[in-house]
Amino acid sequence: MSTSPKPVKKVPIHLQSAANRVYIKNGEIVNHDKSFKADVYIEDGIIKFVGPPSEITIPGGVRTIDASGLLIIPGGIDPHTHMQLPFGGAVAVDDFYHGTKAAVAGGTTMIIDFVLPNKHESMIEAYDKWRSWADPKVCCDYGLHVGITWWSKSVSEELGILCKELGVNSFKTFMAYKGLYQLNDSDLLDVFERIRQLNGVAMVHAENGDIIAKNTQRLLSEGINGPEGHELSRPEEVEAEAVHRACVLAHQMKTPLFVSGLTSKSSAELVGRARRSGYCVFGETLASSIGRSMSGVAKGERIYYITSPPIRESAETPRQLMKSLAYDDLQLTGSDNCTFNKDQKAKGKGDFTKIPNGVNGVEDRMSLVWEKGVQAGLLDPCRFVAVTSTNAAKIFNIYPQKGRIAVGSDADIVIWNPNATRTISKDTHHQACDFNIFEGMTVHGVCEFVLVRGRICAERGQVRVAEGFGRFIPTPVRPPFVYDIIEGKVQSAVQEDHPEERQNGGGNSVAKKF
Ligand code: URP
Ligand code: ZN
Ligand code: ZN
Repeated sequence: MSTSPKPVKKVPIHLQSAANRVYIKNGEIVNHDKSFKADVYIEDGIIKFVGPPSEITIPGGVRTIDASGLLIIPGGIDPHTHMQLPFGGAVAVDDFYHGTKAAVAGGTTMIIDFVLPNKHESMIEAYDKWRSWADPKVCCDYGLHVGITWWSKSVSEELGILCKELGVNSFKTFMAYKGLYQLNDSDLLDVFERIRQLNGVAMVHAENGDIIAKNTQRLLSEGINGPEGHELSRPEEVEAEAVHRACVLAHQMKTPLFVSGLTSKSSAELVGRARRSGYCVFGETLASSIGRSMSGVAKGERIYYITSPPIRESAETPRQLMKSLAYDDLQLTGSDNCTFNKDQKAKGKGDFTKIPNGVNGVEDRMSLVWEKGVQAGLLDPCRFVAVTSTNAAKIFNIYPQKGRIAVGSDADIVIWNPNATRTISKDTHHQACDFNIFEGMTVHGVCEFVLVRGRICAERGQVRVAEGFGRFIPTPVRPPFVYDIIEGKVQSAVQEDHPEERQNGGGNSVAKKF
């Protein structure tokens, strides 16, 4: 092995407006595959340099941030939000401004929201509507998934346009919400087949909507109409059955599958088992379900926690789900942020089926994963980055533009203080909703700085976002990290793929897997 020193390459710095240039020194960079000490230089929203200070000359006028004792991590990517979603006769109160402002405050620099067309509405028209809502308001970058809420030849054709012309590679199907979004198995097979043809990624909300409908009828007829009826109508096995069925249906159509919003141990285990059998399937759990259980929630407050699939009663569930993330049974954390104020939730008093579904999470997701994962000793910081950012970037094919601290990547960067704590409260959060399901929890992991494409948008508690600064990020079809599995270039989802990316390890062994 040669011991001769590497020649030092000086990076020329061109004088530009100081606002466009940021130098972060003395920090520890954490990517999903390794962590190391290095400085970072940013110009015009792009990372231009990562390395030791001896290899760069910094001119005057550059904003310099001393990150001593802090971690420099890729900005979070939340793959599951519903900003200003019209749902159940109400509209979610976090619109694309408040929702993305809250995201940034918590260290998330990109969201992927869901276009959910009404039955018989054109997918393209719905997409245009979502773009017109989001583009003027977003404070951070965003992408879009599109929900396949009904199925026809015209929908099939529109999927082609969305993939080829409109920057959408992922489509969400629903096995629940009977009469609203639910598709039957025959339609699911057709949808998966079409997505495979287009080299896209299928997503699924996995709960058995027919069972839920039956149980709901029975519960209401027995006089059980309070919020407790919600989980009683959709216990864990109702989720697990649908998860298993979705994995089989997608596998039969050779379609990659993203199972969204898993809230129970049994479902997470089924995804892990499918992956070990070679199925190309990825599993997401949620800030709400790793952050808390329903245990101890007062009767009168339960209505504010209603979301689907439900936050489970068992106090063991959050830790079990976190272990599933550690073991690589699950790969991602989203928020499913879909917030309604107390008066909106109150519409479902006396009939749990009328409670608008959804809770907060976009702001607190990063801290909760840190607290329940890293602080609890279940994840190392590399795996934290994988499950909060990199894996989403890979699956939705925007890696390494997003999800990595590297030369050429977007400067979506969080300077993270792993030792600082904060206490979550509706009184201090940036979300528009008047309730926070994590109220009173103290969590480790605080953003000292958040940079969105090089712009300092949060600084030591001061959030200074710019409405409309965010951009729509197209997600191209055929993500290699997904299609290499489908096409047999790597054997299964649990095999260590792309070994050329691995250097120096990255903490515990699970951090290397994907
Ligand atoms: O309860 C939730 N999560 N509401 C939003 C719609 C969905 O299921 O994703
Ligand atoms: Zn859902
Ligand atoms: Zn959702």
